[in-house]
Amino acid sequence: MHVSILVFRNFLYLKIAVGLMVLSLLAYTIDSPLGKPNGGTWLGYTLGTIGALLIVWLTWFGVRKRRYGKGRLLLEDWMSAHVYLGIALLFVATLGSGMQFGWNVHTLAYVLMTIVIVSGLFGLYAYVRLPRLRTKNRAGMTLDDVMALIAGISKECYDVAGRLDDEVALLVQQADQETRVGGNFWRQISGHDPRCGTTYALERMRELAEGYSGADADAARQLITLLARKGELLRRARRDVQLKALLDVWLYVHVPLTIALLAALFVHIVTVFLYW
Ligand code: HEM
Repeated sequence: MHVSILVFRNFLYLKIAVGLMVLSLLAYTIDSPLGKPNGGTWLGYTLGTIGALLIVWLTWFGVRKRRYGKGRLLLEDWMSAHVYLGIALLFVATLGSGMQFGWNVHTLAYVLMTIVIVSGLFGLYAYVRLPRLRTKNRAGMTLDDVMALIAGISKECYDVAGRLDDEVALLVQQADQETRVGGNFWRQISGHDPRCGTTYALERMRELAEGYSGADADAARQLITLLARKGELLRRARRDVQLKALLDVWLYVHVPLTIALLAALFVHIVTVFLYW
């Protein structure tokens, strides 16, 4: 997905969404129900029905996006409409409810819907912004290229460390074996490893370097330069993994809460008809 989704067909779906919001607002302003506006008026039922249909249709997108090349509308149509009508839904549902909230299944459905929409907004931001940030962060390379460079530098570190004492050899070995990119969910999202072997080796080498002289001091400086370069590449690799994780993480809210929303919506509709 790209920014073009937002301008797709010359903002056609934005126009439809704005039209829907303006009509809802007009009806809400003109309507003068007995008592406070609420979901039980004719307008409440009308906007509630539109909202429920929109939710089912927005959910259908999950099915549609897996059926490439089928149907009259392009996937871009679906995506653009999903985004704009998803935002319009918040407006329609809020007016439909008459803003009468309480501790009940109706409000639960509204809250779930709002969380799904807000997570969708984050997803939109992620899809538009993060791919470009990833490319910039990797300076045009792929993650495999970055990892290959890191492995190359690790080898060079071993060579240089061979010219120094055992402590340095051990440090370089630890820097190689105790340096990880990625890992569990939190490690990926944080983009940082507090126990990174390379960071430790670099700090320790800076301290040790002060005790060397002559050729050893040259080797120590060379090693510090290599470790610093490796650290910089690791920072980029971890940032890349972090951006990739951010691209997916919002879907873990968007999709399961869509299912919870459908369940709450079903109970909401059944309850409304039971108390008709
Ligand atoms: C109640 C309203 C909404 C519902 C029920 C809903 C539901 C869904 C579902 C079921 C998917 C498919 C996920 C998958 O199978 O991978 C999806 C994808 C998506 N939704 Fe929503 N959505 C809603 C509102 C929004 C809003 C307001 C936005 C943005 C402003 C949004 C942005 C997205 C994006 C960016 C995708 C991912 C498309 C992709 O991975 O290709 N959604 N949504």
